[in-house]
Amino acid sequence: MRVLGLESSCDETGVAIYDSERGLLADALYSQIALHAEFGGVVPELASRDHVRKLLPLVRQVLDSANLRGSDIDAVAYTAGPGLAGALMVGACAGRAMAYAWGVPALAVHHMEGHLLAPMLEDTAPEFPFIALLVSGGHTQLVRVDGIGNYRLLGESLDDAAGEAFDKAAKMLGLPYPGGPQLAKAAAQGDVSRFTFPRPMVNRPGLDFSFSGLKTYTLNTVAECRVDGQLSDGDRNDIAAAFQEAVVDTLTIKCLRALKQEGLKRLVIAGGVSANTALRERLEGRLATIGAAVYYPRPAYCTDNGAMIAYAGCCRLLAGQSETLAVQVKPRWPMNELPGLER
Ligand code: KG4
Ligand code: ZN
Repeated sequence: MRVLGLESSCDETGVAIYDSERGLLADALYSQIALHAEFGGVVPELASRDHVRKLLPLVRQVLDSANLRGSDIDAVAYTAGPGLAGALMVGACAGRAMAYAWGVPALAVHHMEGHLLAPMLEDTAPEFPFIALLVSGGHTQLVRVDGIGNYRLLGESLDDAAGEAFDKAAKMLGLPYPGGPQLAKAAAQGDVSRFTFPRPMVNRPGLDFSFSGLKTYTLNTVAECRVDGQLSDGDRNDIAAAFQEAVVDTLTIKCLRALKQEGLKRLVIAGGVSANTALRERLEGRLATIGAAVYYPRPAYCTDNGAMIAYAGCCRLLAGQSETLAVQVKPRWPMNELPGLER
């Protein structure tokens, strides 16, 4: 079965073709970073319009590169939520229409399920059950995963998502959008021992997160370090290192706690922040001490992409699921509303 996957939930247009026998056949991504950079964040209306411009050329591009025609596609999967309503509508309308025109099923994919399953695209895919740490620009969640569609939320952020906290802290440091990778780069040059930032909620039981206090702490530290309104490169790097260290430490503590609570030895990390090298290295080191393993996608599949949507759609197609003719997007969509797969 060959599934065309479309991702357009935020500021990346992703298109890919996944074959249930042969794996990923083609994959293309267009990032809108340059478009939104001058505004310091994603402008939803501009994002929607750019998806309109880029989506069909990317579909043609992946079909060409896989040497396929529309008639070779067995189903079309599109991100139906969560995300920006207008941006989601672009992929959903185009995807539903293509499926109708080609006479094949359409699949409405949950963006976070796409992230969660992205490690399955790698050679060393995790077996169920596992704990998933989903860390993106909009979500920070710990989920027990017993199978596709079999999700139990163990904890989540009570305020900002981890990626959002990275982006806001980066902005305070004067780093350009998107801040997460920029902050990580600055942190690599910094002295991690100069400042100690708080580890929010680690002393309380449970698996929830909170990053708003860390944001305020960052803001205050930046204010203290500024001389004549300017932050030196050294101060910027040291604050970035302390911020990243606090986030990585907090996430690691909660992941270990979740594994222990659920009696599991496999952890998946997915979503944009899972591209963070410091987080990967810390989790690998700490999990090794308890005989547990961490799984994550290659960096290109940590952030938004079409491959994860094509893959998640293919899993649901093989389980016999598909959409009606209605085009529906869900800007908010709890993952536990998804139907499980019969196994
Ligand atoms: O999954 P994603 O591409 O989009 C959403 O679904 O939100 O995640 C984007 C988020 C942004 O907040 C971005 O700053 C963050 O992931 N991010 C990173 C890194 N790469 C992306 N955060 C920290 N370190 C990174 N290397
Ligand atoms: Zn995402």
